[in-house]
Amino acid sequence: MKKAFYRFAAAVVLCGVLFSCKKAEAGDVRNGGIILGFSQIGAESAWRNCNTRSVQEAAEQAGIQLVFFNAEQKQENQIKAIRSFIAYQVDVIAFVPIVSEGWENVLEEARDAKIPVLICDREITLEDQSLYAGYLGTDSAEEGRNAARYLVRKFMDPPPDPPDSSLEDSRGSGEVPSRTGPIRIVELRGTEGSSQAAKRAGGFKEVIGEYPEFRIIYSESGDFLRSKGYELMRAVLDEYEDVDVVYSHNDSMTLGAIDAMKERGIRPGTDIVIVTIDAEQAAINALKRGEVNCVVECNPKQGPDIMDLALRLARGESIPRISYMEEEVFTEWDDLSTLPPRGY
Ligand code: AHR
Repeated sequence: MKKAFYRFAAAVVLCGVLFSCKKAEAGDVRNGGIILGFSQIGAESAWRNCNTRSVQEAAEQAGIQLVFFNAEQKQENQIKAIRSFIAYQVDVIAFVPIVSEGWENVLEEARDAKIPVLICDREITLEDQSLYAGYLGTDSAEEGRNAARYLVRKFMDPPPDPPDSSLEDSRGSGEVPSRTGPIRIVELRGTEGSSQAAKRAGGFKEVIGEYPEFRIIYSESGDFLRSKGYELMRAVLDEYEDVDVVYSHNDSMTLGAIDAMKERGIRPGTDIVIVTIDAEQAAINALKRGEVNCVVECNPKQGPDIMDLALRLARGESIPRISYMEEEVFTEWDDLSTLPPRGY
């Protein structure tokens, strides 16, 4: 607790040093020379680290002075960071809300200080929608729907043969797994209270809800962490004899769950169908090996769009209310041989 306070105090001092350079003048804004206060959640996954790199590199490229805070997974740290941005009168505030509720007061303070706010990556729930200018990130409900659409195709609508039959051994046969009774799904959810967890669960249920054959037998939050994905999967395998599918809200938890399956002699991707979200390189490699069946992309490379929107806000221009990143779905039936390295 004390350690966290000192770390935060040090960050505020650093912030003070940075802000001894003055707020942007009109001419600076035209040249991109603005100050952007950015509060990141933490470093819980390779996805998150890529998201951070993307923001930092894009700020440098755009000539934007970035004041960056890592909240170490705590909403209270994010609120303190936003208050320090307000105190130092940055030109624009951007932040990734770890959870969707509880932002009213600090956003009212930003509005009183006339500092525009951009919400990034995760969404927030507010009564007064005018408290922020816009949202840039991913469509998590659609990611959940895409995960479910893959399962519908896998179990209800048999796919064609793989594009290259020599890949058959390494990437599964594409056959509908044999089973009796319902299709038993284990869901590993993201951080409790986050928009990503709520929407990935909601979008998924929306699609599988049309098919009584699918049944979610277990659903727990693994906080987007590999260690918790491992722990949860061990608990699941202790409790349930038959699991047909693991639907995991991110790759980190999936990789942990795969470790737990292998320890028990279970073949991931063959004995249990695995659908995961993010598309980190490690998950794509697992898909190529046949240990994962479907990877739904969540695009972390949001930095350039964030800088573009921040500049527009600093110039007093309006921005779209919602901007979604482009995203793909990769399955065991796709030819992945030409897929470029993911970079995360
Ligand atoms: O908010 C995006 C999610 O947060 C990603 O899916 C996950 O990996 C990350 O930690």
